[in-house]
Amino acid sequence: MANLYIPWIFLVQTLTLLAKCRGKVPAVIVFGDSSVDSGNNNFIPTIARSNFQPYGQDFPGGQPTGRFCNGRIPSDLISDGLGLKPTIPAYLDPMYNISDFATGVCFASAGTGYDNTTSDVARVIPLWKEVEYYEEYQKKLKAYLGNKKAKKLLSDALYLISIGTNDFLENYYTLPDRQSQFTVKQYENFLINLAADFVKKLYALGARRMSLAGLPPMGCLPLERTTNIMGLHACVEERNNVALEFNRKLKGMVAKMNNQLPGLEAVYVDVYYIFLQIITRPSVFGLEEARVGCCGTGRFEMSFLCNPHNPFTCQDANKYVFWDAFHPSEKTNQIISDNALKTYLAKFL
Ligand SMILES: *[C@@H]1O[C@H](CO)[C@@H](O)[C@H](O)[C@H]1NC(C)=O
Ligand SMILES: *[C@@H]1O[C@H](CO)[C@@H](O)[C@H](O)[C@H]1NC(C)=O
Repeated sequence: MANLYIPWIFLVQTLTLLAKCRGKVPAVIVFGDSSVDSGNNNFIPTIARSNFQPYGQDFPGGQPTGRFCNGRIPSDLISDGLGLKPTIPAYLDPMYNISDFATGVCFASAGTGYDNTTSDVARVIPLWKEVEYYEEYQKKLKAYLGNKKAKKLLSDALYLISIGTNDFLENYYTLPDRQSQFTVKQYENFLINLAADFVKKLYALGARRMSLAGLPPMGCLPLERTTNIMGLHACVEERNNVALEFNRKLKGMVAKMNNQLPGLEAVYVDVYYIFLQIITRPSVFGLEEARVGCCGTGRFEMSFLCNPHNPFTCQDANKYVFWDAFHPSEKTNQIISDNALKTYLAKFL
């Protein structure tokens, strides 16, 4: 038995070494909604925008960029944490070109969802169109780097996918159509199938390393609490339970894809648990206010209602879990991103 033992160890070591040879992540490629949109909506006719003050007041240079935050968003922070650039440019922004996009690019669009009918609500970029832009990007990258280098970059890159909240809050629970067609559980399954199709599509296009973020505790977003009048503005439990159930299904789908698609390294990133901890005990994280956002009264303002003329905006967004009534502050984004890097994305570091 003793002589058999050594070759096995050797094999394990060789495999480990081979896995490491895969190389560091050379680029971060982003798909999704406002949680990761770095400004694509500035370049399409929609009201779902944030390229005006006080958005961006704590961003480098104090610039409003179209990020739905006072500062940086998780995709920026994760890129930074991976040793890549500190902010990820929006693909539609003519200020940038392929040499910038070669280390990170964002196709996300605030207000969009897995479901085609979700992006119709605020006339934003549907997910299938984000993929079309990505295909266009691939062509430009191949022209810029050459076929071989571009292909390697596209397969070593980390794809960050953060989407789904709008399908429930903007679409299912707000408009009559999907509710008349699906129970909420059926709608979850419908979205999970779309998510699986999306993963397969990216895989077919050469993507291998993917991070799929789950839903936040949707019922605790200030806007949801504002409408929970009977519940005295507590978190809406039903919405949180839907998020938990959707996340469980998403995690299962990711495991299934990893089994089905050779070479795929997809991870489910849970944001629910850490986010709920921050909301439940903000002081543990150095925060003070979790019920309302910083911008305006913090109860309903976002997008154009969160503007420089709103007199109620707080003094210090760093004390707030939420920046506006729907989106986390930079400080919360930092805690959630650090947790994602440490807990779920460590193998890509
Ligand atoms: C990208 O833009 C930079 C600066 O604006 C310029 O120097 C560079 O040549 C451009 N690269 C490509 C590939 O167009
Ligand atoms: C969404 O729209 C695109 C473009 O029209 C279409 O190709 C796709 O099949 C649609 N998806 C669903 C699930 O209807």
